Amino acid sequence: MRELGIIEKGALLVEDGRIAQIGPPDEISKGFKKETEMVDAGGRAVLPGFVDAHTHAVFAGNRIDEFEQRLSGSSYQEIAAAGGGIKRTVALTRDASEAELLKQAKKHANWFLSCGTTTVEAKSGYGLSLESELKILRTIKRLGEETPLKCVPTFLGAHAFPKEFTDDHDGYVLEIIESMLPAVAEQNLAEFCDVFCEHGYFGYEQSREVLNRARALGLGLRIHADQLSNNGGASLAAETGAITADHLEKVDDVGIAALLAGRVQPVVLPGSVYALGWNKYPPAKEMIDAGLALVLATDFNPGSSPTPSMPMILSLACTQMQLLPAEAVSAATINAAYSLKRGHEIGSLEPGKAADFTIFDCEDYREIPYYFGLPKVWKTFVNGKVAFDCA
Ligand code: NIG
Ligand code: FE
Repeated sequence: MRELGIIEKGALLVEDGRIAQIGPPDEISKGFKKETEMVDAGGRAVLPGFVDAHTHAVFAGNRIDEFEQRLSGSSYQEIAAAGGGIKRTVALTRDASEAELLKQAKKHANWFLSCGTTTVEAKSGYGLSLESELKILRTIKRLGEETPLKCVPTFLGAHAFPKEFTDDHDGYVLEIIESMLPAVAEQNLAEFCDVFCEHGYFGYEQSREVLNRARALGLGLRIHADQLSNNGGASLAAETGAITADHLEKVDDVGIAALLAGRVQPVVLPGSVYALGWNKYPPAKEMIDAGLALVLATDFNPGSSPTPSMPMILSLACTQMQLLPAEAVSAATINAAYSLKRGHEIGSLEPGKAADFTIFDCEDYREIPYYFGLPKVWKTFVNGKVAFDCA
């Protein structure tokens, strides 16, 4: 993760949206055709587009009022218990039309591109009924089709219990297993299934049932694990064959050993720790030292992490979790790509891969986490085409 394979004064040749060659300019220019267009990066740093492997990018409204309530002393859990939190966004998202949802999602997509992200994983989970979960997943699909941002869809029906099932949690789990998951799989609207495995949300057994059903239907698995408490989420990820376990603020050594044995990639989300005003970040350095292929992501959502900015996440990873800038870049690009089963396609600048890259207004990639809190993206390219330009 510390070896980025930097090419000083490099160049790359793009053909049909893919990287044809990468190396010193003299060699690359041999491949020029008369229609080849030149983009002079002017000595700026060129990196693979960020791959944000954990977002809740499609939702209606925001939760600015809860932000203020937290600053006045209420906790995230207290607000949720009083009917706010995820439930608030569910009510707003259910009320929104598909067109309204798409309009807001396109605004979010532009934010991602302006921060240098070219692929996001996007979860449903603010519908919690068959109809509204499908509405969100269709919106994610259209977002990928109608904007340059590449979107990988995840079904997160098991995000919270909807008000219809307040007194019948097992009934909702059954609804997910018997009705929602088969419909999502049949309509091919998700590649992954995620579960919020947490006290007060989906228990260990309920999470296992949902994940096993999803796997049987051909979906890959991801889990919100050990975020607010350590309830064995990491071990469940290993047991069910999940590709990632996400959050992990409360994971212990037993959990880390389980991830390693199960070849599960940890996805750490320091934006949610920061935005909730907490100070216990997940043990990311220990995970790297243990040999895990760590992933960094934004967790972009209206409650716990309202940031679409991977540069901000890289800064938090370095200053709060002691990652080196190179480790943070690897976690936000190639490792993230593998966690979305796209390691062959995106996440690094190599011949044959999609020409998804970002030119930063920096001479050195280490400036990205170092100068924090200011926009540094000069241009973002997806499939060789300009998707964001700061000018
Ligand atoms: O990843 N942990 C569960 N879900 C989100 C928060 C969702 C919300 O508050 O709206 C998360 O932090
Ligand atoms: Fe999340």
